[in-house]
Amino acid sequence: MDVDCERVLFSAGQLHERVREVAGEVNRCYAGKRPLCVGILKGSVIFCSDFIRCLSVPAELDFMAVSSYGSGAVSSGKLKIKKDIDADVKGRDVIIIEDIIDSGFTLSNLKALFNERGASSVRIVTLLNKKSRREYDIQPDFNCFDIENEFVIGYGLDYNEKYRSLPYIGVLKSEVYKK
Ligand code: IMP
Ligand code: MG
Repeated sequence: MDVDCERVLFSAGQLHERVREVAGEVNRCYAGKRPLCVGILKGSVIFCSDFIRCLSVPAELDFMAVSSYGSGAVSSGKLKIKKDIDADVKGRDVIIIEDIIDSGFTLSNLKALFNERGASSVRIVTLLNKKSRREYDIQPDFNCFDIENEFVIGYGLDYNEKYRSLPYIGVLKSEVYKK
């Protein structure tokens, strides 16, 4: 375990098993369709790559980079599009793939954006859901795990760009961000 990790929440094995299960739900929902998966950089990249390999429907893959957080653990309250998708979403079934829903700010903005652009449907797949932190009226359509209000790292999730490559999800020691 990484020295800055207080405890492991989900092991690599637990993650793979649950990701496969949720991808199964998505396969059933999109049977006969060709959804456009939009991974939100960078946090969802590891989850996204495991998830789409479990899809049996012919999905397309695109990426978007946004930021609602600065470099720390506190939300800045402004969504910036740093990289937009290449695809035209008009008439498409869009699946947003996110690492974690916290306040819901990022996803409520993104969902509204894809709807404005004329997507025929927009659904959300998230790895983690911090329900108790919600400030915006948004729920995932597919969720792997509910978690408590703790700052987590690994499997793509970072703190100051560190820990993304950990193969598990762990709780970050509070002394790391209180420093
Ligand atoms: P929201 O817009 O408040 O829902 O924040 C979502 C974004 O905040 C996620 O995509 C993450 O980048 C970041 N975030 C929220 N909680 C955590 C955490 O516990 N660990 C790492 N990143 C987090
Ligand atoms: Mg993120």
